[in-house]
Amino acid sequence: MIPALMPTFNRTDLAFERGEGAWLYTADGRRFLDFGAGIATSSLGHNNPHLVNAIAQQAARVMHVSNLYRIPQAEKLAERLVAASFADSVFFCNSGAEANEGMIKMIRRAQAKSGHPERVRIICFNGAFHGRTLATLAATGNAKYLDGFGPVVEGFDHVPLNNMNAVRAAITDETAGIMIEPVQGESGINLADPRFLRELRAACDEYGLFLGMDEVQCGMGRTGRLFAHEWSGVTPDVMTTAKGIAGGFPMGAILATEQVARHMTPGSHGTTFGGNPLACAAANAVLDVILAPGFLEQVQARGAMLGREFDTLVARYPDVFSAHRGVGLMIGLQCVAPVSAVQDAAMHEGMLSVTAGGNVLRLVPPLTVTEEDCRMAGEMLDRAARRVHADIAASAARAESVA
Ligand SMILES: Cc1ncc(COP(=O)(O)O)c(C=O)c1O
Repeated sequence: MIPALMPTFNRTDLAFERGEGAWLYTADGRRFLDFGAGIATSSLGHNNPHLVNAIAQQAARVMHVSNLYRIPQAEKLAERLVAASFADSVFFCNSGAEANEGMIKMIRRAQAKSGHPERVRIICFNGAFHGRTLATLAATGNAKYLDGFGPVVEGFDHVPLNNMNAVRAAITDETAGIMIEPVQGESGINLADPRFLRELRAACDEYGLFLGMDEVQCGMGRTGRLFAHEWSGVTPDVMTTAKGIAGGFPMGAILATEQVARHMTPGSHGTTFGGNPLACAAANAVLDVILAPGFLEQVQARGAMLGREFDTLVARYPDVFSAHRGVGLMIGLQCVAPVSAVQDAAMHEGMLSVTAGGNVLRLVPPLTVTEEDCRMAGEMLDRAARRVHADIAASAARAESVA
């Protein structure tokens, strides 16, 4: 019989009752170090007092009014995001996919309203993940996710990441823009080369295309800068973010330059819930923390500390790990052993993680993770790797005795 909760996820048999910082607790008293953070979303960890108070206070006043009225919390949040980024204007929505759907619309509309209605196609990258709506699935281009969902939305061309010749070859008279994750999350923490981003910017300027960046996962402080593209010095024309923006409260945002945003006139796009007072109160509280002096430097320092822990692991267990890569607190451990075995062993040691494509263990802890948490993560992963290594050695010995 089908479960009441639709079985679209392979769920681990764990249910958490409460959380504190980077730790989650089950009802039966077990605790887990949360290095998955709800898939890079619980940016301030669990039960952060500043975030909890902001949500509770706003909920007690007014949660939702619709976008038919002014929303001071949204105006404040938009002004803060504009002041802290390349953008001139912001649209709030409820998820990463919805933000990307809106970004695709904005790129097309900006072309159409500037005299190029034929420019509708968007160049995307192999290994991308942009969401599960029909257009964002087409932008993602992963056959597995498209299976059974009918005709693929037209207008997306895929080329290899970090290959400028392939990008230039894909540009046609119908190209409207380029859409890229500065750090690909789902496919295994693959970094867009800063030089490649600069070349994309130059090609967009040369051909009159809009550069769209998907910072749904890598944005909002995750890499140790407010937005990941800042590392390259390149600015997009339009960018999405979501996941960590409101610390676990569902929210997404599209940030755009005036050149793109000015075509989004009343009635051109909409949302019932997007940017409501409750979501914006949560996101303003998250921004208070992320933009506090020294916070992003601390994210970088924690990332560097984890990098040192992982250097040791890679050297000590070459049959389990071959490398690690990433920026700030968006880290991929390239596994040699099956990543599911590594993830299970880590969970056995009390540590939660997320897998990614390419046999990669994805570690995306809360941005507030402490030095002690990072040290414990290293120890737990060491014990997990030792366990996986022992299993590999045991099955090799079995195979040898059979032969
Ligand atoms: C880069 C990127 N874009 C878009 C999405 C989709 O976001 P959501 O699940 O909030 O729709 C994700 C989700 O993992 C993502 O990592």
